[in-house]
Amino acid sequence: MTRYLFDNTGVQTENRFHSLEACYDPFSRRQLARTGLAPGWRCLEVGGGGGSLGDWLGEQVGPGGEVTITDLDPRWTIRHRPPHVRVLRHDIVSEPLPTDGYDLVHARLVLLHIPERLAVLDRLVAALRPGGALVLEEFDCTWQPVLAAPDGGSAALYERVQAALLAQLEKRGADCLWGRKVFAAMADAGLTDLAATTYAESWTGGGTGVGLHHANARQVAEGLREEGVTEDELARYHALLADPEFTVNSLPLISVTGRRPSGER
Ligand SMILES: C[S@@+](CC[C@H](N)C(=O)[O-])C[C@H]1O[C@@H](n2cnc3c(N)ncnc32)[C@H](O)[C@@H]1O
Repeated sequence: MTRYLFDNTGVQTENRFHSLEACYDPFSRRQLARTGLAPGWRCLEVGGGGGSLGDWLGEQVGPGGEVTITDLDPRWTIRHRPPHVRVLRHDIVSEPLPTDGYDLVHARLVLLHIPERLAVLDRLVAALRPGGALVLEEFDCTWQPVLAAPDGGSAALYERVQAALLAQLEKRGADCLWGRKVFAAMADAGLTDLAATTYAESWTGGGTGVGLHHANARQVAEGLREEGVTEDELARYHALLADPEFTVNSLPLISVTGRRPSGER
């Protein structure tokens, strides 16, 4: 049974994936391109969500390559694809991968949610060919400074609701600080040539980025009430996210690339 808090059955999922893809795909594509990604590569996109990065990988590797997009619940990836890009309903924690020897394995904002993340990391490393690249991209959920607010109480309200959201995530086994631990975890897993780049931007009320916060808070509204957030606070939080006088730092995405040593068999 999944413990993933924002499961993909929620009607808010489409908006969540839209915000994630619009805000972070250009950055993620740059990180993936830096691995040497080329026609003919075999790639694994784990927890592919809306599938946009898996589709982009498919364009880069061309018909001579192969991309497998997995997800616990891939309902948001259902659309026509070329035959070399396939979608698999798959639990990365409990089900064996159909194959290994990948040139590139990528997962964005997946291991953060999985309590067994270190065991999953070992499986992802084992799925690489010697010399293959792993790219993990994760949030540090704790660094979200408010950059501008319409009044004195708004920053405190934002921080209160976000803290409740993070508390709900942690109760489901998420590690909200995972982003800052990924580099060391990948080194411990035996990867070399490690490099990290972090991306953040400002998100203004009413914009695409804060759509992520709208979607998340709406999907877990009941859990937020359990954390003591009142109906009135929740209503004011959503109004704040719609206010162009409010600007907050985006969640910082820490992208780490490493390679399986070439000498390994
Ligand atoms: C926050 S979303 C990120 C989606 C996408 N990677 C992105 O960054 O746009 C997390 C995704 O991981 C998937 N997921 C969660 N647990 C998983 C598991 N055990 N195995 C495979 N996918 C999982 C969820 O279904 C969801 O689609």
